[in-house]
Amino acid sequence: MLWLSIDRTLDVPLIRQVYEQIRTKILNGELAAGECLPPTRELASNLGVSRNVILEAYEQLLAEGYIETRPGSGTFVAEGAYLHQQEKTDSQSFLERQQIKEEINDIIDFRSGIPALNMFPRQKWGQMAKQVCAETAHSILGYDNPEGRIELRYVLSQYLKRTRGVECHPDQLVITSGATQAFSLLAKLLLSPGDEVIVEDPITKEIQTIFSLSGAVICPVPVDEQGMKMDLLPSDRKPSFIFVTPSHQFPLGGTLPIQRRIQLIQFARKVDCYIVEDDYDSEFRHQGAPIHSLQGLDPNRVIYIGTFSKILSPALRLGYLILPPALIKRCQDLKWFTDLHTPSLEQLTLARFIDERHLERHIRKMKKIYKARRDYVKKCLIEQFGDTVKIFGDSTGLHLVAEFQNIVFLDQVVNEIMKKHKVKIYPVEVHAIQKGIHQNKIILGYGNLTKEEIAEGIFRLRQALN
Ligand SMILES: Cc1ncc(COP(=O)(O)O)c(C=O)c1O
Repeated sequence: MLWLSIDRTLDVPLIRQVYEQIRTKILNGELAAGECLPPTRELASNLGVSRNVILEAYEQLLAEGYIETRPGSGTFVAEGAYLHQQEKTDSQSFLERQQIKEEINDIIDFRSGIPALNMFPRQKWGQMAKQVCAETAHSILGYDNPEGRIELRYVLSQYLKRTRGVECHPDQLVITSGATQAFSLLAKLLLSPGDEVIVEDPITKEIQTIFSLSGAVICPVPVDEQGMKMDLLPSDRKPSFIFVTPSHQFPLGGTLPIQRRIQLIQFARKVDCYIVEDDYDSEFRHQGAPIHSLQGLDPNRVIYIGTFSKILSPALRLGYLILPPALIKRCQDLKWFTDLHTPSLEQLTLARFIDERHLERHIRKMKKIYKARRDYVKKCLIEQFGDTVKIFGDSTGLHLVAEFQNIVFLDQVVNEIMKKHKVKIYPVEVHAIQKGIHQNKIILGYGNLTKEEIAEGIFRLRQALN
């Protein structure tokens, strides 16, 4: 006897209910290969459903190979449809996971590069997304160009000219899924195994990994409080490109002065390589006037990368590349092979958001908030640590660096601080290529922390370091 149940209160068609139950029984071995299924009329009568329901469920199972019919004998479970079920651990670890989540909620996390998530302009963005969805032509819902929507590339080129002194035509832009995809595209475009790439040291671990995965040889150049030390550029190297974060060095926070920018361009011209400028958070400059982009000084040599992860939200996964004309076509092809294109509706929503000046308004608002948060981190650090802490890299963005005397922030120390004192900090050393120089420095991201959280976090850090 085949035990099946039918529930007419469910929103699942009867055929589906019969099909699913038999399929599950076959997959888990309750119905073994060669076993005979009841005749359709008999099963229909047992379950109180029409014979058509059973006929259609059997037909579906037959089409998928779970059962077979033998003329004159009936319907049988097919060979090879049993799959040994692995033990499920999900439900058992649910409580544990919940507990871990709660513990995490308890932790004050100084992770850098996270904007104030509760201040995302949800209403405006939602309104624009709704308009875009309602008003765009049907054709936009199809496949699109790899370089991205012209509406976005046009407003973006205007916005960048106005705010960052970037020199570009919309055709030079490729919209990417965040800056991270731009790094990957460039690595594929410009790096072959054995090629050299000059990078700042320290520089984010993720970027080092992306370039290394192309088989490139990473040539680190040390960074001081003003960014890359140009007098240490290796004259015996022939790099494919030099990677810099000139507006706000990540992680140490320096801003590259004009003299070093010129030195860098002269070096790149001499060795004939590109410069890649990662301009990830320079909109939030807290002191002095905004710094012009490096790209504006030599648009044919500098590849510019931007992102909306810091000014809006990392969840949008929207960034862009500005390329010298010689690289445009190849980069568009690569983007096509990678993921065809970045989602069109999001691009159009962003285009409208920029065009109607909501982005600039949002940046102005957030700049005040981040400046207040930065000032507060500095105040708390000084209150708690006095002159035993040195602060730098705080002129721009969503993080600063704190250097402590006689403390080495090894992984083990940082983990213990997190477990015991519930404050998460990020050592600069993780991002260092030449190890041992930055062991007493930590990155403190404040973008997504309230004043209360900042005060509590620094207080916990003092207790931990005591
Ligand atoms: C140096 C640097 N550049 C760019 C980004 C932005 O990456 P994405 O746009 O992919 O979010 C980050 C992320 O934190 C970063 O640290």
